[in-house]
Amino acid sequence: MKAYDFRKAIITLLLAVPFAWSQERTAPVGYTEWKVYHGSPESIHYSNLNQINRDNVHKLAVAWTFDTGDAFKGSELQCNPVIAHGVLYATSPKARLFALDAATGKVRWIFDPYHGEKNSGLYRIRGITYWEWGKDRRIFYAVRQYLYAINATTGKPVKSFGKDGRIDLREGLGRNPETVTVSINTPGIIYKDLLIMGSLVSEDLPAAPGDIRAIDVRTGKLRWIFHTIPHPGELGYETWPKDAWTYIGGANNWAGMSLDEKRGLVFVPTGSAAFDFYGGNRIGDNLFANTLLALKAETGERVWHFQGVRHDTWDRDFPAPPTLVTVRRDGRLIDAVAQPTKSGHLYVFERETGKPLFPIEYRKVPPSQVEGEVLAETQPLPLKPAPFARQEFTRDMIMRRTPETYGALLDWFDKVQNGGQFNPLSYRGSFIFPGCDGGAEWGGAAFDPETGVIYVNSNEMVFVMKIAERPVIGQRSTGRRAYASQCASCHREDMKGTPPEFPSLVKIGEKLSQAEIARIIREGRGRMPNFSHLGTDGIAAVTQFLSTGEDKEYTAPAGPLPAYWTKYTFGGYNKFLDKDGYPGFVPPWGTLNAINLDTGEYVWKIPFGEFPELAAKGLTNTGSENYGGAIVTAGGLLFIGATDHDRKFHAFDKLTGKLLWEATLPAAGNATPAMYEIKGRQYIVIAAGGGKWGEPSGGSYVAFALPK
Ligand code: HEC
Repeated sequence: MKAYDFRKAIITLLLAVPFAWSQERTAPVGYTEWKVYHGSPESIHYSNLNQINRDNVHKLAVAWTFDTGDAFKGSELQCNPVIAHGVLYATSPKARLFALDAATGKVRWIFDPYHGEKNSGLYRIRGITYWEWGKDRRIFYAVRQYLYAINATTGKPVKSFGKDGRIDLREGLGRNPETVTVSINTPGIIYKDLLIMGSLVSEDLPAAPGDIRAIDVRTGKLRWIFHTIPHPGELGYETWPKDAWTYIGGANNWAGMSLDEKRGLVFVPTGSAAFDFYGGNRIGDNLFANTLLALKAETGERVWHFQGVRHDTWDRDFPAPPTLVTVRRDGRLIDAVAQPTKSGHLYVFERETGKPLFPIEYRKVPPSQVEGEVLAETQPLPLKPAPFARQEFTRDMIMRRTPETYGALLDWFDKVQNGGQFNPLSYRGSFIFPGCDGGAEWGGAAFDPETGVIYVNSNEMVFVMKIAERPVIGQRSTGRRAYASQCASCHREDMKGTPPEFPSLVKIGEKLSQAEIARIIREGRGRMPNFSHLGTDGIAAVTQFLSTGEDKEYTAPAGPLPAYWTKYTFGGYNKFLDKDGYPGFVPPWGTLNAINLDTGEYVWKIPFGEFPELAAKGLTNTGSENYGGAIVTAGGLLFIGATDHDRKFHAFDKLTGKLLWEATLPAAGNATPAMYEIKGRQYIVIAAGGGKWGEPSGGSYVAFALPK
């Protein structure tokens, strides 16, 4: 044998060794309960139950339906229930908390945070947190600014927690609690005796900072806090103007988080800094906004971080809890964390170090032409997997549904600034594609530990976003001028809003009393900031204008403009739709994707959802916007509702994407289902809440099982 060949043989041998030692995936144990939001702390949406499987799923039938009775026009229900000791815990569109017998749907108890009083407004409570220690069993969930601890057995507040069973989330953030709105819509996560939680804050200023907090599950006392907008001396402080930490808000975790219990690491994705679309008063990269944070669950100390968007002005929040996955590299199984994004990308990092497991490239991106705005010069994007949503809207993609709609869309297209990902916002309007609602959304991804495949459902909607001047209100003003200055960015100049995210205020006087309207303006609500700075007279004038149309003068409180004031706001959320309300670009308008994380390659990809009335005319398989995640099972199935218009609940073959079963829900299943077993019978339950895009609302939970 020649020396050369000998060397080659050794190299071949060395290469072969890792394969001989290659670690195999084994079917995981556990995963038969649903005691945690999205099924488990790892947020993998996986169930080991396999009574329902590929062969018999076609027999699946309704086991029970429970109607909360709380649906109203425009309401939504996004709750992923928790099931513990045979009891299912879930919320209603009016924020009541229900305990149901999980086998029959019969009510055990109801907790009403409003004690029967009328409560207006929209709630999008995505789930609750369950904790137990022996007989002490508690449900944590937030309604408006209060986080409640409810006794899971009796449905009564746990008096020893906080003040009479609740804490005020606005407190302890270093801001005047009266001037900020803070709530929680995605539940926090339990680590030992800590409840680690994010927040929902306003998207325009004044907004609360998005600090991550851990509280004692027994008392409600604060145990640690992580400042997502760093204070002086903290890492990242230099990525903001020097006083920003006192007046900028957001950079909050509204999407939920995941936990590696064994390593004691909590993974926290954050959203954009407020105000979302103009950052002239927050020049810099803005750490830790739009960042995946790995924190020590015990102390809140940062271990590593990755910022997905520097100085975000596109509302590119990380939208879902990251998925704690295992991927194979060179024959070795590596614990990793996968973060889907609104832009249609999937980032994969080694769990302990944050090292990317697919290359990330920093690309040069265009500057802004808007006065005072300074965008980052480069932005990261992963080179693999390929994006699960299209990345640029081009002229040839305009929808030709009818000659008339096509012509109008062409005219509109030519007026708007185009430019792919990181297209800067502009005075004339810029395309954001995928739009502000993704790509991926809050439903998050499902991961199959048996195969290493991750499942992501995605929206494909074009948004047109415009920068507009924020009218300054002088010393003397009127209700109408104050409305234009303060409210029109979300509720629009014509008051029609962009329901359901931003409600219409047309004829609001018929729905709400003046006292109720004034209170909402003064206190804020959900994603709406409060406007206490308008002063009593200003609030009264805006209220009067909304209620009766009368435009009264008032004297604004004296003093300089607040520190957070920006000269620019935006012209509202606009989707690129034709005059009949259909997407103005070619399908797919929503997709379902299966990606092998070992290779980064797609296993399958299908259009997901339909508009029934278009399908009836032959325009089928278009996909549609969809919200709520999937469950992948050991029975070989992928269950998902989510589609906005067709109200379907679907089961696909997880290996091929073939539709094996579907049922029509009472309203769209815009929620992640939950899977559990009672006395040997496997159930899957989903909230049917609808209410998106003007679709009918519902308030029920529907459980399915195989017939007995
Ligand atoms: C940053 C966006 C934003 C701005 C600015 C804003 N709102 Fe809102 N508003 C919202 C959202 C979101 C809701 C729904 C809140 C909820 O129920 O969770 C809302 C709800 C309301 C409601 C209750 C509507 C209903 O049907 O119950 C009223 C009234 C209202 N806003 C008035 C105003 C007024 C007046 C202003 C200006 C002083 C204003 N809003 C500014 C986002 C905004």
